[in-house]
Amino acid sequence: MSLHRLLGLHAAVPDPTALAAFYSELGLAGDPAGGFTGTDGGASVTLDEGPFRRLDSVTVGCADGADLDAIAGRLTDGGAGVERRDGAVSVVDPASRVRFEVRVAEPFGPQPPPDPIVPNAPGAVVRADRRAPAVFGKPRPPRRLGHLVIGSPDLPATVSLLTCGLGFKVSDTVPGVIAFLRCSTDHHNVAVVDSPVPLLQHYSWECDDVDHVGHTATALYRADTDRHTWGMGRHFAGSNFYWYLRDPSGSFLELYADLDQILDDEAWEATGRTAFTLEHVANAWGPNLPLEFVVPSDLGELQRAWAALP
Ligand SMILES: [Fe+2]
Repeated sequence: MSLHRLLGLHAAVPDPTALAAFYSELGLAGDPAGGFTGTDGGASVTLDEGPFRRLDSVTVGCADGADLDAIAGRLTDGGAGVERRDGAVSVVDPASRVRFEVRVAEPFGPQPPPDPIVPNAPGAVVRADRRAPAVFGKPRPPRRLGHLVIGSPDLPATVSLLTCGLGFKVSDTVPGVIAFLRCSTDHHNVAVVDSPVPLLQHYSWECDDVDHVGHTATALYRADTDRHTWGMGRHFAGSNFYWYLRDPSGSFLELYADLDQILDDEAWEATGRTAFTLEHVANAWGPNLPLEFVVPSDLGELQRAWAALP
């Protein structure tokens, strides 16, 4: 694919200082202007101050200038207003109000793999006479920003812009509800969910494994139990373990592990992908989907803020 990686997101929030402090607690490196990243670097979150929480832009990387030309051509042919400057192609999605930017970028990785930990299982005892190493684990920073989920008042229009225009690939859909799109081998880097207002529904940081998710999310939860939103569980879409916490701006931050990787598009379509219905939206196991995950507690505030904009 011409797109090959997520480069980052830029958000405006009323209190970037509080959000930056939360990121420091999580162990992210960086600052609001230069961007916050996990230990492997990669995609970053940059912040500005704004009157309400808002996703301003999402940037993805492509291979070369020919890719940029092709993307600009497709967007223009589709009737979108394309900007081309500073080596990037960008377009504002009228539905989600997000500016999507594509620029030439070096490939990400390779990521150093964690030490393999094989659990004991019935008939397969691999760890005798000692405790599991995970019980001695500590919270530690996530590895990288992996994906984000954008709330759009016009789901088909936003998905069309991202796929037909920018070149994202569709990994899974629950028709009318959510579409999971990729610009790398990750099952999804951007998902678009039906929403009455433009929204950064959640953004997600990769961890080594389920214990890394557990230790790190637990530390954040114990420091402030009101942050807990949803988890621990395992999703259908992407197969990943997840735990969601509410960040100080009101967006959900997910820690995840064991996401599906799609190296062969045809193999995924032939044998990996299975049709989804509404029952696959939430999880394969774990706590029930909380209402605020679907209807954010600040929805009314966001609706008034968007309505007041030109
Ligand atoms: Fe997610």
